[in-house]
Amino acid sequence: MSLVKEINKRRTFGIISHPDAGKTTLTEKLLLFGGAIQEAGAVKSNKIKKGATSDFMEIERQRGISVATSVLAFNYRDKKINILDTPGHKDFAEDTFRTLTAVDSVIVVIDVAKGVEEQTEKLVQVCRMRNIPMIVFINKLDREGKDAFDLLDEVEQKLGLQVTPLSFPIGMGYDFKGIYNIWEKNINLFSGDSKKNIEETIAFDHVEDPELDQIIGAHAAGALRENLELVHGVYPEFDREAYLKGELQPVFFGSALNNFGVRELLDCFIEIAPFPRPKQSEERLVKPEEETFSGFVFKIHANMDPKHRDRLAFIKIVSGTFERNTPYLHVRHNKKLKFSSPNAFFAEKKEIVDISYAGDIVGLHDTGNFKIGDTLTEGEILNFKGIPSFSPEHFRYINNADPMKAKQLAKGIDQLMDEGVAQLFTLQLNGRKVIGTVGALQYEVIQYRLEHEYGAKCTYENFPVHKACWIEPDDPKSEEYTEFKRVKQKFLATDKQGQLVFLADSSFSIQMTQQKYPSVKLHFSSEY
Ligand code: G4P
Repeated sequence: MSLVKEINKRRTFGIISHPDAGKTTLTEKLLLFGGAIQEAGAVKSNKIKKGATSDFMEIERQRGISVATSVLAFNYRDKKINILDTPGHKDFAEDTFRTLTAVDSVIVVIDVAKGVEEQTEKLVQVCRMRNIPMIVFINKLDREGKDAFDLLDEVEQKLGLQVTPLSFPIGMGYDFKGIYNIWEKNINLFSGDSKKNIEETIAFDHVEDPELDQIIGAHAAGALRENLELVHGVYPEFDREAYLKGELQPVFFGSALNNFGVRELLDCFIEIAPFPRPKQSEERLVKPEEETFSGFVFKIHANMDPKHRDRLAFIKIVSGTFERNTPYLHVRHNKKLKFSSPNAFFAEKKEIVDISYAGDIVGLHDTGNFKIGDTLTEGEILNFKGIPSFSPEHFRYINNADPMKAKQLAKGIDQLMDEGVAQLFTLQLNGRKVIGTVGALQYEVIQYRLEHEYGAKCTYENFPVHKACWIEPDDPKSEEYTEFKRVKQKFLATDKQGQLVFLADSSFSIQMTQQKYPSVKLHFSSEY
């Protein structure tokens, strides 16, 4: 019984946004409410500032900070909240995609002036594919921005969501007066005092109350009434089941910087957001309240200190409890491992814990045993699904620049790929290695880390690939497939899992291939 109680207390989620929308600021205010930090400014922004793309110190600093902010946990009311960090920088999008496999829900932050931006679109698309419940927070209401209804339209159209506002702004920018909380039926007046942690609210049973005119002025009160009427007329009633299925997304308005509208968001969040959800493995559906432990690695972080080469593997606990000094089965290696100092995360600290529950994240010190997607269990053979690789955007040959260090280079490449820094493809024809990345920045990170952590040197050579397509033949023995492999042999490679990949040089070539070999399916992600 206590296991179920513990699990139901957990809310594990991610905040996603385009850089600069206010993710870091919102995270920090949430932590303030949880009493996990005492003052603003305690959470470091982990974003890479513009123009820093070739500044290695910046990259290294960045990696340090992102360990600290990988998981931020705090207690609020009787709930245990785990926020998983999702890098906003597009070059690290792959990292974010993987983190989304470990969250049970997300909050999407949108800048009221900029509206829906590119990175938000991509990340929301991934959440939609997985039916992850989403709450939208429209931020920076203290600034002039788009009309609230226009913005709701934009969110629906660009993100393909069905929204329903659970709060509504009264004015905006210079005229911003506050927020009507549809969920709690009260008004929160804006003071613009960012030092105030918790503002006063004024409750109304109905918006027709004449006192409202006195408080915010007749004009604003009239406009609010009209707007709320429109909200009720246009948007569906909030329905928790629909939200949990990913079919309806509640929207809140506020200003994270001013800590305004954040408490409302958090209070609603802990009430409606899902507790840990069952997860599909290749073998069966695994439920969080099962007594036996299972979990999977969704992130690996290398130690920056070259003297301590160990890494931290982040495990999402899917079921049961994870206990210190207990042997668990590493399914891929088929061997039992024990962990004497598993880390749990609290605010911006990590500490050793004896027991963690489904929904929690533990950080395990690793000397190279883990790679992303690995499963740990109490003995059962389980392989969790849903950590796909997407086609990289950039492709380059990697060459050894120091013949004496071939071994170090191979080891370095191997470990960096296990961490998920980039993807490795090996050409079938000649065994040459090709590195695929989401952003050009990763090539510099890899080169730098190979040299500083493994003592190996590399150079790159352009390889003009448009997309990596994972190949699925209807019949592996068919003549058509044999013919395909013969004609395309120059463009065939294997990924790290040994899956066959077609490295297409143009979208035209993909089209032609699909026409010519209809029984050979091409996929843009490794899981289909
Ligand atoms: P990110 O993590 O999503 O990239 O965004 P972050 O929280 O770092 O916020 C980006 C910028 O937007 C910051 O300003 C932050 O202070 C500002 N901001 C966040 N929320 C609000 C809000 O509600 N209203 C207003 N007006 N601004 C907001 P910056 O100048 O880029 O950084 P900083 O020097 O203040 O740290």
